[in-house]
Amino acid sequence: MAKKYDIVALGELNIDLILNDIQGFPEIGKEIIADRCTMTLGSSTAIFAANASALGARVAFLGLVGTDDFGDFIERSLRERGVDTGMLLRTSEHNSGITVCMSYEQDRANVTFPGSMNYLGLEQVQKLDFSCTKHVHISSLFLQEQLRKDIVPILKHIKAAGATVSLDTQWDPAEKWDVPWNEVLPLVDVFMPNAQEIEALTGESGLEKAIAAVTPKCHALVVKNGSKGSIAIDGAFRREVPAFLNPEPVDCIGAGDSFNAGFVSAFVQGKPLQECQDAGNLTGAISTTAAGGTGAFSSPEAIEAAAKRFRK
Ligand SMILES: Nc1ncnc2c1ncn2[C@@H]1O[C@H](COP(=O)(O)OP(=O)(O)OP(=O)(O)O)[C@@H](O)[C@H]1O
Ligand SMILES: [Mg+2]
Repeated sequence: MAKKYDIVALGELNIDLILNDIQGFPEIGKEIIADRCTMTLGSSTAIFAANASALGARVAFLGLVGTDDFGDFIERSLRERGVDTGMLLRTSEHNSGITVCMSYEQDRANVTFPGSMNYLGLEQVQKLDFSCTKHVHISSLFLQEQLRKDIVPILKHIKAAGATVSLDTQWDPAEKWDVPWNEVLPLVDVFMPNAQEIEALTGESGLEKAIAAVTPKCHALVVKNGSKGSIAIDGAFRREVPAFLNPEPVDCIGAGDSFNAGFVSAFVQGKPLQECQDAGNLTGAISTTAAGGTGAFSSPEAIEAAAKRFRK
């Protein structure tokens, strides 16, 4: 049966309110001025969805936002990036999430209100029919409290509809990694952590030990390792490839999500694991050529021009 979507991106959604050129540091009881302020769509899963759409996949977003103005802004921003919002859920019970980023030259101080992000769980997901999509990509598990708690029955519900699943946990800010991995990993077709995450979640020190701890439970495993590239493993198959190194990255924001976008876009076309890995390595590198997570994916021409810099 023809599917409406190639990919459903299931993840967090929030606003980023970024304050720049701040005259000092905030202090209780005082007020300071920022000379610039931008409001933009935050969320690493949104970067994934936008970039997969820019690469030509038919992408829908499944997330929970408020019926507030921020929710309207998020919905509009997704559509502007070519992402279908037919599966986006709105709630009047919780406000949309927001991160206030106080940006200084060296780094950022962030305050996040997760809001509705914490309340997307089995209750809503089990009402949805996933036979409309080839694939579901789940990300940022630890930024979504209810999703983390319900992840096993949610995965079972999605798999029962015949969709394949990829999972990028992202970092756990609480550093508890509290998920029943032995139940989760067999339900995931492609597990996509980065090197720090797989070590932290297995409690192993050293990447090889961490990989050895999860592979007996995994189908395909892809470990992202920054400028070192990535490792793909599936049963006896193992392939380690260096990054398409960008010696002068503009920034590395969203490199992992862009890797995921390239990898999953190839995966839903039925490409073999090594081609998916090469596609991910290339789109991860492309993302480092422009500011922010989606800057390098503004048009097919921009993507192709950046790709040419890395292809031999
Ligand atoms: N400096 C770089 N030059 C070229 N490619 C890079 C560079 N940094 C990262 N990449 C590519 O992007 C991929 C993902 O990067 P990384 O390992 O940082 O993911 P991540 O830690 O999950 O990132 P994120 O913070 O976006 O979640 C890498 O596997 C690599 O292919
Ligand atoms: Mg990541």
